Amino acid sequence: MLEKSDPEIYKLIELEEERQSHTLEMIPSENYPSKAVLEALGSILTSKYSEGYPGKRYYAGNQFIDEIEKLAIERAKKLFGVPYANVQPYSGSPANLAVYLAVCDFGQTIMGQDLLAGGHLTHGWKANLSGKLFKSVSYSLNEDGYLNLEEVRDLAKKYLPKLIWCGGTAYPREIPFKEFAEIAEEVGAYLVADISHIAGLIAGGVHQSPVFFADIITTTTHKTLRGPRGAIIMVTEKGLRKDPEIIKKIEKAVFPSGCQGGPHNNQTAAIAVALKEAMEPEFRNYARQVVTNAKILAEELKKRGIKLVSGGTDNHLLLIDLSPFGKGLGIFLQDALELAGITTNKNTVPQEKSSPFYPSGLRLGTPAITTRGMKEEEMRKIASWLEAIIREIKDCSLPEEKERRKEYLEEFRKDIRNREVIYKIKEEILNLTEDFPIPNLGI
Ligand SMILES: Cc1ncc(COP(=O)(O)O)c(C=O)c1O
Repeated sequence: MLEKSDPEIYKLIELEEERQSHTLEMIPSENYPSKAVLEALGSILTSKYSEGYPGKRYYAGNQFIDEIEKLAIERAKKLFGVPYANVQPYSGSPANLAVYLAVCDFGQTIMGQDLLAGGHLTHGWKANLSGKLFKSVSYSLNEDGYLNLEEVRDLAKKYLPKLIWCGGTAYPREIPFKEFAEIAEEVGAYLVADISHIAGLIAGGVHQSPVFFADIITTTTHKTLRGPRGAIIMVTEKGLRKDPEIIKKIEKAVFPSGCQGGPHNNQTAAIAVALKEAMEPEFRNYARQVVTNAKILAEELKKRGIKLVSGGTDNHLLLIDLSPFGKGLGIFLQDALELAGITTNKNTVPQEKSSPFYPSGLRLGTPAITTRGMKEEEMRKIASWLEAIIREIKDCSLPEEKERRKEYLEEFRKDIRNREVIYKIKEEILNLTEDFPIPNLGI
């Protein structure tokens, strides 16, 4: 159908499918949802307007939409063990904004992990709305790459935030929910756990749950949870005890006070499907393998003399620290890996000496390649490719003068493209990906 009606878009989707098929997707926030999830996402449910909540809609004709949303809510509550779930947020960022609207007044103080230390934009970064609407205080990492909980406590006592975020976007270690809860209780703050990255690991039983520690939990649904793009806001029993009005406040903050109108019902249905999948025993095996793969990859890289932030990982992601070779090498590694067929992203490292645009680290993770069925043996191969490509870029030297950087990078890209090692690894990756097809491809 699409092929005939819009060949341009059809072709581009095909090309993207081909790209995904023949490369290793190692950005830790990406994954491949099942065909069932995609079917719900592409369904007729997208046509329906249903502002409001089940049983309380502003439009007629929502009898089946109500049932779909109720199923998604019940499944979220069961999977994470919470008394309340809101499945309407369009994505992680609007979900986090809704939490602010629910529990903070503009201008109040909030606290989160610094973006440059692995936190998320929406946790108070200055260029994000969260950093503009609220007084934002950021905590950071120790030199060893672990969270600096003493600093969190000191800052919390000094600034008395209304809300404290825990959970990040580039943190390879277990989130110490209990310690965060103690600090939040000491200063009377709401503790909000943003489990976007680790939701699938929590559902699969390989990361502790924040349910007994946080008041509110937010998560995206498209990362380790392997659903469609979307998000869920949950309230815990502890949150309800802290503020019996919290559910009403969150409902209102998502709609109508917040930044969204009608829920995306096709997305809600796809979230429900993904939540059902996450309750299957098979999902527990998947989550376990994601972490096993990340740990093997970390061990193999360390054996090869490659430095990792915090010395390893407890979850699905690792951060390679290239600073022993020089400043600002992340972009060189990211680009060289992309040419060879491994998709990752450059990232800052603790005590970053370079700029956030040219950081000295690289973030990579195992959720998507584990969905393809890759295991320990493949992790060893990937580690050897990473080592070989790091060797190719380690002598690059980012010019100090900003004006020269673009030109230097262009030269680098021309040069690296023609190196034999890149060709060789690209070929090997092509062969490997043939053996591990993405389970759900085909328009
Ligand atoms: C921890 C965390 N929170 C929130 C978000 C925002 O999610 P979205 O991109 O769906 O707005 C992300 C996405 O990267 C994230 O990692």
